[in-house]
Formats: sequence, C-alpha cells, structure tokens
Amino acid sequence: MRIAHISDIHCNFGSDFNEKMFDRAVKLLNKIGADLIFVSGDLTTEGLLTEYELAKEKLKKITGEIILVPGNHDERNLGYKLFPEFFGESSFIHTYKDLSFVGLSSSEPDKDDGRLGRERHKLIEEGASLEKPLTVVGFHHHLIPVPNSGREKNIIEDAGETLDIILKNEIPLVLMGHRHVPYGVKIHKTLLVNAGTFSCNRTRAHFGNTFNIIDIKSDSITVTMVDIPKQKQEKTIQFNLNDGRCVNRNYNTNEKI
Ligand SMILES: [Fe+2]
Ligand SMILES: [Fe+2]
Repeated sequence: MRIAHISDIHCNFGSDFNEKMFDRAVKLLNKIGADLIFVSGDLTTEGLLTEYELAKEKLKKITGEIILVPGNHDERNLGYKLFPEFFGESSFIHTYKDLSFVGLSSSEPDKDDGRLGRERHKLIEEGASLEKPLTVVGFHHHLIPVPNSGREKNIIEDAGETLDIILKNEIPLVLMGHRHVPYGVKIHKTLLVNAGTFSCNRTRAHFGNTFNIIDIKSDSITVTMVDIPKQKQEKTIQFNLNDGRCVNRNYNTNEKI
C-alpha cells in the first residue's frame, strides 16, 4: 500500500500560497499512484470562506482518495465551522483495505497550540482495536519536537499521554505536519513522521517544499521524501517491522540547511 502524505498547503490570497508550486507538486503526486492521500492540515491560512473555496477547488486536481484533518490555521476566524462543511468530519476512523486510519483534529479555534484530549485518545484505541493488520494515526501538530524548526512551540499539550497511548498500542506509524520541516524518528515500535510544507512560501532555510511517499508492506515501512522544486525523490527511512531496525537518513540534515 502506498500513502502520499502532504501537509500545510496554505491556500490563501496573500503571500503564503505558492500556486505554481502547488500545481507542480500535484503533477508529481498524481504520477506516483498512491492508494490514499493524507493531508495533515493547514489547508488554508486564515480559515476564511474564500480560502476554503480555493482549497476545495485546488484539491480537485489531485487524483485518488483523499482524507484530511484540520490544522491550527484552518480553525481561525470560525474556520472550524467551515471545515466539516467542506471536507467532512475532522476526527474519524477510515478503513481502507488492511488499514485503519485514525485521523484526529489536534487544533482548537483561534489557538496555535495543539491538543487531542480524552475523546480523541479513545478514538486511537478504537482504531487499534479494529484488528486490521495496520493502524495509522494522523493529526496536524507535532508529537515530539522537530529539529531545524526553530524554538519549540505548539507541540500538543497532552503529548505525554498521547505518546503513551500510541506506544502502548504499538501503532506503527504516526503522520503529522505543522512545522513546515520534514522529519522522522522511530520510538520503540512506532515511526513518527512529519511532512514539510507542500505549497507554502514559509519554508525554512534550505528545506524547500516537499511531501512524503510512504510505502507499507507486511514487513516494512519506507518513507521517501519528494523535493518538489528539484523534482527529486530521496529514500529517507526504512523501518523493518519484523526486527524493529530502522535506517534513517533524516531528511538532508547532513547537508546544508
Ligand atoms: Fe502550516
Ligand atoms: Fe500549523
């Protein structure tokens, strides 16, 4: 199974949204043949109606099944009321073939900080109990600090409890965004992956616009980062689910950042 993980599109009519980059990224994305496309939030910048309309229109260019959760920017200015209208439930369990995907809203209206809370923790446990061979959890904010993303802020407030539930349930894969920097790290039997930004101009240093291709087999998870401006794919993480070994090239951090 192949999941394309994209994040932080930031559709808006100001300086955030790079429409040319979006169109270029969609061309690359449509070529890779993903079974499922997960968008981990920040589809808009101010949560405005016009931005939601633009995001809805732009996402139509992506071929394939899309599931998405809101980010902190989508919940601004009553945007939290628009999200379900445009994109459906903000927290859900989506089953697809051998996968149960738990998508969670980690945002609260007009706050940049993230939080999941007990109800959404229960949803993680519910997803894990479905006895599908694989459970994936996805939300917007980061669960642990992301290197090269500046001073730490906005990590989910209940990160300790959330991490505990994820590790106890041996969730193999967690997908996040928010920091506009790609990163991945394995903790015990769980691979935590942050996507960079798909089409926002607010990139960091030499981290440009990127998205991730995640190939899942019965015995392995492979993360490949797609550098959109360079149109280049780079295998970054190979996680062996049988013996727990993880080869991690860690997203260019050995190169100039
Ligand atoms: Fe963002
Ligand atoms: Fe965000």
